[in-house]
Amino acid sequence: MQTCIFKDYQSLSIKVVQEIAQLVITKPDAVICLPSGETPRLTCTLLVEKAHAEKIDFSRVTFFGLDEWIGIPPQNEGSGNYFFYSNVFAPLKIARAKIHLFDGMADDLSNECRKMDLAIAAAGGIDLMLVGIGMNGHIGFNEPGTSPNYYSHVIDLDKITTSVGQKYFKQATVLGKGITIGLKHLLESKRVLVIANGIKKANIIKKMMEEEISEMLPASIVRKHFNAALMIDEEAASLYGKY
Ligand code: GLP
Repeated sequence: MQTCIFKDYQSLSIKVVQEIAQLVITKPDAVICLPSGETPRLTCTLLVEKAHAEKIDFSRVTFFGLDEWIGIPPQNEGSGNYFFYSNVFAPLKIARAKIHLFDGMADDLSNECRKMDLAIAAAGGIDLMLVGIGMNGHIGFNEPGTSPNYYSHVIDLDKITTSVGQKYFKQATVLGKGITIGLKHLLESKRVLVIANGIKKANIIKKMMEEEISEMLPASIVRKHFNAALMIDEEAASLYGKY
């Protein structure tokens, strides 16, 4: 796994944007999976700016949203849907038919997973999967203990995830389950970028890179990928390689 350490969050985000833009320029019908969360926020802002400034055509790109909270409606600012639409899809005017997001309010969640898996297969697989890392080492909502053989699935969220997740909501919110693209999709993606910034991620980055690869630490599974890069700032890298 490649490791790229950047001076700060800004330079890390610029590099991620360059890679996404380059992919779309060389492959205008690229298939891209994006995460929500704090980490990709600047990437999204800079990507939209670059797309506008350089007139990069995103109209043929197919987008997938990595995960969603179950029971949280799309108009809630803490939802993945809200994040994706407000930060990427609305500013880039992406057509609804090119967007695949989980509906966390759906009655039939197994069907949501099936639809997502079929859509990824129909798109020809994911070209670029951008993911963040949770404080407990989760990727998307692939929590510790999740099999790397799972495609999309519904999961009971870890206590760390439900408590850290409060940061996305204006008021205290009951979070219990999540729906997520699986690690098997990640392992089958043509390119994976794991992004992390800030001192709070230093400990989990160290574990991800130095502990034994295990489904108890889902981020470590990314090390098995044939074309993955860890892109982190100096703060997130500050414990990695140090004893
Ligand atoms: C969240 C999301 C993930 C996200 C990760 C890190 O709970 N389920 O998709 O990548 O945790 O989030 P953040 O970027 O806010 O630190």
